[in-house]
Amino acid sequence: MPTREEILARFGILPTVATELRAALDAAVAHAEATAPKGFEGLTVLDAGCGRSSALQAFRSRIRRFVGIDIHQTPPGSMPYLDEFAVVDVCSQSAAFPSGTFDVALSSFTVEHFTKPVEAFANLGRWLRPGGTLVITTVNRRHPFVAAYLGLPMGLRRRSQRLIKATAADAHPIVGVCNDPKTIGSAMQKAGFVDVKVTSISHLARAWGKTWPTFFIGLAGDLMTLKLPSRRSTLLVTGRVPEPQAGT
Ligand SMILES: C[S@@+](CC[C@H](N)C(=O)[O-])C[C@H]1O[C@@H](n2cnc3c(N)ncnc32)[C@H](O)[C@@H]1O
Repeated sequence: MPTREEILARFGILPTVATELRAALDAAVAHAEATAPKGFEGLTVLDAGCGRSSALQAFRSRIRRFVGIDIHQTPPGSMPYLDEFAVVDVCSQSAAFPSGTFDVALSSFTVEHFTKPVEAFANLGRWLRPGGTLVITTVNRRHPFVAAYLGLPMGLRRRSQRLIKATAADAHPIVGVCNDPKTIGSAMQKAGFVDVKVTSISHLARAWGKTWPTFFIGLAGDLMTLKLPSRRSTLLVTGRVPEPQAGT
């Protein structure tokens, strides 16, 4: 019996969100280090909506201060690589950090839960320093399965989330107000980000791979949109806070 990854490779469902996210964070970290101000002693980074895992932990040796925030308290000891954790709502608590605190911010599979995404992006932009990068992953409601899911009544959505999510703690209500390539790109620009790039990845089979039936439903969804980039299930978005022009 082939493994899930072997099946996905056979159908050409690559790259993975993990590899693309890693590449985006590599670029963000390299840019932050290359443009660091005098006296720089290592990166200050934020994971906004950190849950219980962060792709930024791969960069721990280059990070001086690693902050995680979430609307829920993390279980004690679950994120030992963080220097600080705070309960913060990204959409509303703009005073949570002083302006220009962070070199890089990650917000992974969170935007679909944000009730006020433009406000959230503006807060993240304010907390980043000029030249700092925001990296986002989120779901794409242009995928027919995601659209169908978002069309379900809330009670049914909650029940189906329990089937596909690893634990009940991962099953947060999905709002999806900003979840298509065009809307999220415009929202990032509206919040002041420049060099905004939106790419898409087929990720349903991997995301729903907890059981074989949900894996195969996800695989069907991935195959359906493999050749339709604007409809693939998952968006990777990056944007930079503008740097002051020389002489201004
Ligand atoms: C699907 S989980 C993703 C967790 C983690 N980023 C990851 O990639 O595994 C979404 C997380 O976003 C958090 N979240 C949702 N809305 C938020 C908000 N307005 N401010 C901060 N965190 C939020 C949730 O509590 C949850 O931990």
